Amino acid sequence: MPDDGTQPAEQGRLIVLSNRIPKGDDVPAGGLVFALHEALTDAGGIWVGAGTPGETAEDGLTPLASGDYERMTFELTKQEHRGFYLGYSNGVLWPLFHHRADLLDIQEGEFDAYAVVNARVARSLAAILRPDDMVWIHDYHFLMVASELRKLGVTNRIGLFLHIPIPTVNDVMALPESKQVAGWFAAHDLVGLQTRRDVAAAFDILRHDDRTQLLNDGTWVREGRAFKVLSFPIGIDAKAFAETAERSVVPQLLLDRRAPLLIGVDRLDYSKGLVHRFQAFGEYLHRREDLSIRPTFLQIAPVSREDVSAYQEIREELERTSGSINGAHADLDWTPIRYIRRHIDRDRIAALYRRADVAMVTPLADGMNLVAKEFVAAQDPEDPGVLILSVFAGAAEQMQEALMINPHDQASGAEAIATALAMPLEERKRRHEALREGVFAEDVAWWTRSYLAELRRSSRSLDMSGLDSVEGSIGT
Ligand code: G6P
Repeated sequence: MPDDGTQPAEQGRLIVLSNRIPKGDDVPAGGLVFALHEALTDAGGIWVGAGTPGETAEDGLTPLASGDYERMTFELTKQEHRGFYLGYSNGVLWPLFHHRADLLDIQEGEFDAYAVVNARVARSLAAILRPDDMVWIHDYHFLMVASELRKLGVTNRIGLFLHIPIPTVNDVMALPESKQVAGWFAAHDLVGLQTRRDVAAAFDILRHDDRTQLLNDGTWVREGRAFKVLSFPIGIDAKAFAETAERSVVPQLLLDRRAPLLIGVDRLDYSKGLVHRFQAFGEYLHRREDLSIRPTFLQIAPVSREDVSAYQEIREELERTSGSINGAHADLDWTPIRYIRRHIDRDRIAALYRRADVAMVTPLADGMNLVAKEFVAAQDPEDPGVLILSVFAGAAEQMQEALMINPHDQASGAEAIATALAMPLEERKRRHEALREGVFAEDVAWWTRSYLAELRRSSRSLDMSGLDSVEGSIGT
């Protein structure tokens, strides 16, 4: 059996499930779809995602046009879309997993819609599964699909990868369904997380479940099923991105190298720390002694999930903050913050990264944040820009040579901006070279291969003989 995650024909297919799937020319925001596209182009298989919500919904999958891999969609009604996607996934699980229990919006019926959609997806997948297929589920929209598949008697290998952070045990207690969480995880053979920090948090959650035990070899056992929880930091197709950055064109207006350019690119989300970031930039402007330095901070923040109220609030707050900072510092020929909500093409963004002197990747909580990796890949190694990175981005575990900041501390952000703008070429090159090496070595193909090799290695049923539990004996 090859150990590198590649997929010989006789070993069954790879079935990938994610809520978001590109359906045509639309380019959804967020790193997940790009990573999955690259992973599937590499490994082949079938990608299943949500169809356009309709009036009614039946079991079964509808094929979309295929290329290097097949794509199919499952059905859901408009009402289910509200309860499953806007409600439970993005109004409950998203804030909870991003340590914002204060933003939980628990509404009756939404968990039911989530459970109904998860069960329908499981039935639809079960209908196409062949004995040797592997199922790879992505993200918080489908935490119950594996347990539904097990109820249907499916014994195939099933993996989960969570692109977002793991909540603390306390946060989980804020969920009315908190007692079910360990069982959801345990229905998989492998739970993949972004960082070691997430793995530690997941261990904490599992330890608090009476029926889950940890064995000496790091395997967890729950009700006779064995599963593993490991970290697999996601990467990008660094080579392709670097090439795109090199050949794409920067808008004329931003070409003047005398004016420093800072850049931020994020989905408009409260977890991204955008208001804190604007305030740190405002604080930098306020402290700056040499008034002839007039940097532009370009923030690209396409909107998403606009029907969720927390997203409307963050949008208004951001507009207020940028307006007030520009009001205080702008001049006839200078606008310090340029804030764009429109979608900008990926090629163009790659070119902007290359042109930028500094990138601000400063989320309050983030699974990984692929912008940090894209920025590094896009730089000219002979004259690279500086990455300012939040300690709360998953990327911080791999990217220690960035300028690390605590986004809650405005002064730390302001100082990092000053340091970045004044950093000598030698230091920029040294930091960039180290970061670049990691981004190119641990790219998206490496991530796919490592995850799938581990999933393939997982045994379908547990032989518990001869294994001692670390935390008490099994079966008592
Ligand atoms: C994050 C999530 C993805 C999600 C993406 C865009 O990256 O981890 O699962 O697809 O945001 O969010 P949206 O709700 O627009 O799909």
